[in-house]
Formats: sequence, C-alpha cells, structure tokens
Amino acid sequence: MPDTNAQNCTITLEGKNYEFPVITGTEGEKAIDISKLRDTTGYVTLDIGYKNTGATKSAITFLDGEEGILRHRGYSIEDLAEKANFLEVSYLLLKGELPNKEQFEDFDNSVRHHTLVNEDLQNIFRTFPTGSHPMGQLIAMISSLSAYYPKALDPHRSPEAKNRTTLRLMAKMPTICAMIYKKRLGHPVVYPNNNLDYVSNFLSMTFKHVSDADYQPDPVIVDAMNKLLILHADHEQNCSASTVRLVGSSQSNLYATTAAGIAALWGPLHGGANQEVLEMLEQIKGDGGNVQKWVDKAKDKNDPFRLMGFGHRVYKNFDPRAKIIKKTCDDVLNKLGINDPVLEIAKKLEEAALTDPYFAERKLYPNVDFYSGIIYRAMGFPTEMFTALFAVGRLPGWIAQWQEMVQENQPIGRPRQIYTGHMPRTFIPRGERQ
Ligand code: SDX
Repeated sequence: MPDTNAQNCTITLEGKNYEFPVITGTEGEKAIDISKLRDTTGYVTLDIGYKNTGATKSAITFLDGEEGILRHRGYSIEDLAEKANFLEVSYLLLKGELPNKEQFEDFDNSVRHHTLVNEDLQNIFRTFPTGSHPMGQLIAMISSLSAYYPKALDPHRSPEAKNRTTLRLMAKMPTICAMIYKKRLGHPVVYPNNNLDYVSNFLSMTFKHVSDADYQPDPVIVDAMNKLLILHADHEQNCSASTVRLVGSSQSNLYATTAAGIAALWGPLHGGANQEVLEMLEQIKGDGGNVQKWVDKAKDKNDPFRLMGFGHRVYKNFDPRAKIIKKTCDDVLNKLGINDPVLEIAKKLEEAALTDPYFAERKLYPNVDFYSGIIYRAMGFPTEMFTALFAVGRLPGWIAQWQEMVQENQPIGRPRQIYTGHMPRTFIPRGERQ
C-alpha cells in the first residue's frame, strides 16, 4: 500500500539536525523511518521489548488497541467469527482475499490430501515420554516434517514448493495435535477421514475412538472450534509471529520456522497463558473461590502472581476476541448442559478486576486467553492441550507473516545493542590469576 501523507521529522543530535521520513499507514498509524539513523548519525535506538518499534509494514492484520479493533485484510474479527469458517479465514490470511466457491473447494481439497503424516514419524512420536507436554512434542514433530520433504528446505525454491509446504503444514498440524491427544490417553491414533470438513476431521481424529464407527462430532463443538481457531488465526506482530519472521529471515525452511513460532507461543506470557488461566481458576476454586484475595495478590508487587488472561501489550481496551469467546463460552456450556463452577469464578474475577483501580489505571482487561480454556475443557481437552490448540489456530497467521516477509525479500533480522560490559582487559594466564 502506498505511504500516504509522507512527511519528515527532525531529530537534533549534538546540535545537528537530521531529517527522517515519517510514514503513515492506511489506518493512520504513523512511524518515523529510522532505516538510515546509524549511517547518518552514528546512533541506534533502544526499545527493550519492542514496545515502540515497528519491525515491518504489513497488510495482513490491523489492531487498534485503544478502540479494541481487530481486522484481517480489512474484515472485522466479529464478521469473520460469525460468518466464515476457519479454512476460509486461513485462505484470506494466506491469499489476501476471501475465496469464492471454486477457490474454497480447491483449497479445501488440497488441504485434505495432505492430512496423513509419514508413518516413520510414528517412530519419533513413540519416543516421547507419555505425559510429556504437548507443545514440546508439537515442536519436535513439526520440525521433523522437514526430514521428509527435503525439497521444502529452500523456502525460495519456487511458489509451488512454498504452496505445497503451506498445504502440508495446514493439513498435518491438526493430525499431529490429535496424535498427541491420543498418546496422552494411551489410545490408538485415529487416522484422518477426508470425507469430513477440516474442523470435523480434527475433532474426529481427536475424540473418535478407533472402534467407534458411528462417531460424528457434535455440531455445537464444530461451530465453537471453528470460532476459536478463527479468533486465534493471526494477531500482527505478536511474540510468536515476530519469532517466525526473524527465524524465517535467515532463510530457514518453513517447518523449522513454524517450530520456532510454536516454541515462542509456549511461554505463559503468550499462548501458554490459556493453560495458566485454567490452572489459576482451579487454584482459586480450590482456595474457596475468594476472588478478591487473588485480585489483591495480583496487585501486590512483592507477589509474583499475575492475573493470567488479563492485560495485553496492545489492547488497552477490551480484547475483541475475549468478548466473542465469553459469549461462545456461555452458548457452548448451555448447549452442552455443562455447569462449570470455574466459569462463574472467571466472571466474578473479571468483575472484581474491572472495578479495581489497579487494573483500570493500567488498562488491564481480559484477553483472548481468559475464557478460551473453559470452552476447550467443555469440549473434552485436557488443560495441557490448550496451547497446542492455540498453535493450530495461529498457523495460517504465522505462514501469512512469513510469506509476506519472503515476498518482500526482507533482509535477515539482526537488531543492534548498547554494550555495557567491561572495557578492554589484559589476559592473565590461569596460573597467575588471583
Ligand atoms: C497473548 O501480542 C499479542 O498479540 C499476544 C496475543 C496473540 O494473539 O498473539 O494476543 C496472545 O499472548 C495474550 C496475552 C496472554 N498473557 C497473559 O494473559 C499473561 C498475563 N498478562 C501479562 O503478563 C501482561 O499483561 C502481558 C505480558 C500480556 C503484557 O505485558 P506488558 O505489555 O509487557 O506490560 P507489563 O508487564 O509492563 O505490565 C504493565 C503493568 C505492570 O505494572 P507496573 O509495573 O506498571 O506497576 O501492568 C501490570 C504490570 O505489573 N500487569 C499486570 C498484569 N499484566 C500487566 N498485573 C497483574 N496481572 C496481570 N496480568
């Protein structure tokens, strides 16, 4: 997109004025382009955690943290969650447009024909200790896919090779996730049923017992899972997407790059928060449900406890996804006839926090992870699987971000630093050291 309203800004350093271009995005965001800062001034910037630093331009996702707005390629997350399915939104992120009927059928069929994983992978899979964390298994399995597709190792090889790798990842991520779930139960793997749609196939591989010939996933759960995967599909330059861009910028292959994104997502401050939220709510329930006590702990600077599922680097208003998930949560539990006391604790915790000045002053609101775990649990997933489900949803976003970086032939990412260590020192032989 052309940079509209181009203008300059002046930075004065040591009495000298330097001009730098200011660029404006299509939604009016402004940035100072400092690409030539060090060459012209000898200075670099310091912005630990990149709270004020744009790493790239992008046309994929727009967030307005103050207004609580999220759009993918111009479409609101509310419309997409309500009116599209996850594979459609994946196509939108990857191709830039919503698919027409033929395009969707072609994409859907292409994905279906890559859902199996090489049987050899079962040998790797069997070596994981039963009960090992799903995210560690997912990282290893996704990275191991690169061993079976050597032509995919060159991400610049050809558009066809990139497209095939994209289809393989989209198709095999749910299969591998379902394998990990089955292994936790000590149950045999259920193979993909390519007569089913993407989400129904994922739920069938997960919850169908190998001897249950008549299994059909509950439409309520299929609809809720589509919504949840859409709500997790992309979120501009979050920690894991930035990891994917950085690892991909070295021209590492897309399997290894995706594995790096999964690794970043695992952290409890990022995607791992959905598991932490459920464990926190269970802890509060076990402690008698005294939510105010835990809100006070979260405010206490001497207490490392944080209200998991609350706060966000960008949203300083409600995370629009949290609003949709909260409503979906009520719908799913009502339709499934589940009365989960943890949901009531979550609502009380949200109410207590939102009326507390500490959270209001810091603009801390429930984020995407606050309610999602309650739905996943209602569907039958164990808590440790939650972040792997986040990865299934985020995959098209990671690939879209990687694709955009590759298509623009961006340089390898290599931030600068400010050195604060020792000045030069004389080397003293070991025998002479004090
Ligand atoms: C995701 O980036 C993305 O888009 C991520 C994501 C995506 O879709 O990819 O949206 C998914 O990762 C959602 C976030 C999930 N993480 C959690 O729910 C973990 C709990 N939340 C936090 O740890 C925190 O809010 C972060 C990590 C999400 C954001 O942290 P920041 O932006 O670095 O803010 P900060 O840690 O500097 O906090 C600012 C202030 C601090 O207090 P002061 O030092 O100003 O007194 O707010 C406080 C913090 O102590 N604070 C919290 C808090 N979150 C921030 N206090 C209590 N509980 C919390 N949850």
